[in-house]
Amino acid sequence: MTKKLLRALAGETQAVPPIWMMRQAGRYLPEYRATRAQAGDFLSLCYNSELAAEVTLQPIRRYGFDAAILFADILLIPEALGADLWFVTGEGPRLSTITEQADFEKLKGKDDIHDHLAPIYETVRILSRELPSETALIGFAGAPWTVATYMIAGRGTPDQGPAHALKDANRPLFEALLDRLTEATIEYLSMQVQAGAETVKLFDSWAGSLKGADFDKYALEPAKRIVAELKARHPDLPIIAFPREAGEKYVGFAKATGADCVALDNSVSPEWAAEHVQVDGCVQGNLASSHMVTGGQALIDETRHIVETFSKGPHIFNLGHGITPDADPENVALMIETVRSHAAG
Ligand code: CP3
Repeated sequence: MTKKLLRALAGETQAVPPIWMMRQAGRYLPEYRATRAQAGDFLSLCYNSELAAEVTLQPIRRYGFDAAILFADILLIPEALGADLWFVTGEGPRLSTITEQADFEKLKGKDDIHDHLAPIYETVRILSRELPSETALIGFAGAPWTVATYMIAGRGTPDQGPAHALKDANRPLFEALLDRLTEATIEYLSMQVQAGAETVKLFDSWAGSLKGADFDKYALEPAKRIVAELKARHPDLPIIAFPREAGEKYVGFAKATGADCVALDNSVSPEWAAEHVQVDGCVQGNLASSHMVTGGQALIDETRHIVETFSKGPHIFNLGHGITPDADPENVALMIETVRSHAAG
């Protein structure tokens, strides 16, 4: 196993950690904007296998990242289940809402998603042919809770209020929705693996808004079910979990879910995470994405600090969240150079 990313996921400590970046294919890159314009809108790009593979490859060509992440979106699963989905420019996603049992009844079953998602599997197949031999291919899905927050509200919300309200007002409906998403996510990720994904990442971007027992039931438990079933089907598959803003709930999350790596957002300090999270295995993260906008010495210092603090165990260098459209591509090059030269020296 020579791919650096897969070695880190297997628990190997490396002098130079593997590096990739959330949203590495995105609007901060002129070549992405050009391909997106060619495809039309964002969703057309997701479902155009050739062009989705092309934008996935762009940051690999430009920067030589150690991993490529499939270009798609976490909201394709709701669409495959029968929800309407569209993106409003400058505002974000819109979906038909799930507020009552009748809305839920209209959703498709877990095995009825594959026709809709076939172009995504084709993107994975193209990538597994075309990626350089040293570059790992990451598949992904949204975690059930995070996807449910969009399905319930019909859009992104600052505090996930509508999803919390449905959980409190109609818990059986809320739990039925999470179950359906859990089952569909297993089928979706399993197909990505069959198509050539070498690891998969579960994005629970809003895990931090679940507190106490709710976190365990609706973030940890679904992740554990997904990991267990995927590993039963694909015993060698490494899995990355991203319970964003889990705070103290990051502690023991990998062990409890069976994930091989947890991705850290930048609200936790590397010192704390090295002591309390990396003890259980590989961690990924966690440079603030604002450094990709501001650059300079602060970027260099903080990058070195993260590499050094995680140097005693398995680590994948990444941002704490996605790179933003206003980032400067030069700063990405500076980050990579800093990781590779500092860690080597
Ligand atoms: O990391 C990658 O490059 C892989 C592709 C990927 C995208 N979205 C592409 C995308 C991944 C893994 C995602 C995950 C995703 N999508 C999440 C979880 C991660 C996170 O950021 O917290 C969420 C919540 C979504 C839902 C989503 N998609 C929103 C809220 C938005 C609009 C916000 C925005 O940035 O405009 C998107 C659009 C989106 N997904 C873009 C990209 C590159 C921008 C699309 C464009 O206009 O070209």
